[in-house]
Amino acid sequence: MLKLRADISPLENDVGHEQALWRDKIFNEDSIEGLRRVPDNCAHLILSDIPYGIGAEDWDVLHDNTNSAYLGASPAQEKAGKVFKSRGKPINGWSEADRLIPKQYYDWCSTWASDWLRVVKPGGSAIVFAGRRYAHRCVAALEDAGFTFKDMLAWERDRAVHRAQRLSIVFRRRGNVSAADEWSGWRVGNLRPSFEPILWFTKPYKIGTTIADNVLTHGVGAYNQEAFERYSSGAENIIRAGFRARESGLHPTQKPLNLMAALIELTTQKGQLVLDPFAGSGTTGVAAKGLGRNYLMFERSRDFYETAQGRFRQSLLDL
Ligand SMILES: C[S@@+](CC[C@H](N)C(=O)[O-])C[C@H]1O[C@@H](n2cnc3c(N)ncnc32)[C@H](O)[C@@H]1O
Repeated sequence: MLKLRADISPLENDVGHEQALWRDKIFNEDSIEGLRRVPDNCAHLILSDIPYGIGAEDWDVLHDNTNSAYLGASPAQEKAGKVFKSRGKPINGWSEADRLIPKQYYDWCSTWASDWLRVVKPGGSAIVFAGRRYAHRCVAALEDAGFTFKDMLAWERDRAVHRAQRLSIVFRRRGNVSAADEWSGWRVGNLRPSFEPILWFTKPYKIGTTIADNVLTHGVGAYNQEAFERYSSGAENIIRAGFRARESGLHPTQKPLNLMAALIELTTQKGQLVLDPFAGSGTTGVAAKGLGRNYLMFERSRDFYETAQGRFRQSLLDL
């Protein structure tokens, strides 16, 4: 139960009451629309694995680029199907339209950033998983909306597939043996993607108060090192987390429960409200509930929404 505290103003107590209506809910809805109904200063933490805008899945295409190379519409790309979708992203831009994609990702983040700022409590955190290539656009959009960019953490994955193509193989296939020999050991593409950035923002608190005052008023603004150290070695900013047996396979970009749990314990107390506007299979909410927090989530896809509901029904809460 969220407690109404004697040391906060009647206005704050009203917010607490209204907040109760949003507790432990998941909406099968577009969060950019849905968040407009959520009261101000309601969430203690926003924790979200947002679409990375890299076109890995249809819901991850956030630009209006109709370039067939990008959307995978050529006969060869259609044949390659899903493989092209996850590998065929332009790295440096193949056309003028490709080069607009990062800017359009910034624009997309800007459509929801000010509502995020409005609904989180002063001093509260917004912790965002964003892709390595466009994370800077997300930082700029949230900063421009009024958030403070506090830190960048890293999630070190226990497994990451290295897909960079060997040049020598390409040249050998073309029959160019001398080029294959000369470029032996060289690859095109990226290094193994062993980490994903975690962007940590905070909402500025009232001018003239201190962060310690803010913690007493709003219950947020500090971090719980003792709790965090149960998931990490010390207070370092790299979190190593993987899936437990039978945990994965619910969503193409599912995050481990332990990873979300570490971030929830880092920034919130029991009874507080954790918001995830891009819930996927509901990992944030499942972790929050397992840790005695409340959750509020939005997921636009009917299938993923049902997956998330299923996770709660089956009570896979062995945190
Ligand atoms: C990166 S995934 C989240 C995966 C999640 N962390 C998990 O562990 O399952 C992002 C999700 O956001 C959803 N989504 C995309 N745009 C949305 C929107 N405007 N409103 C609500 N959900 C949206 C997608 O359907 C997708 O499931």
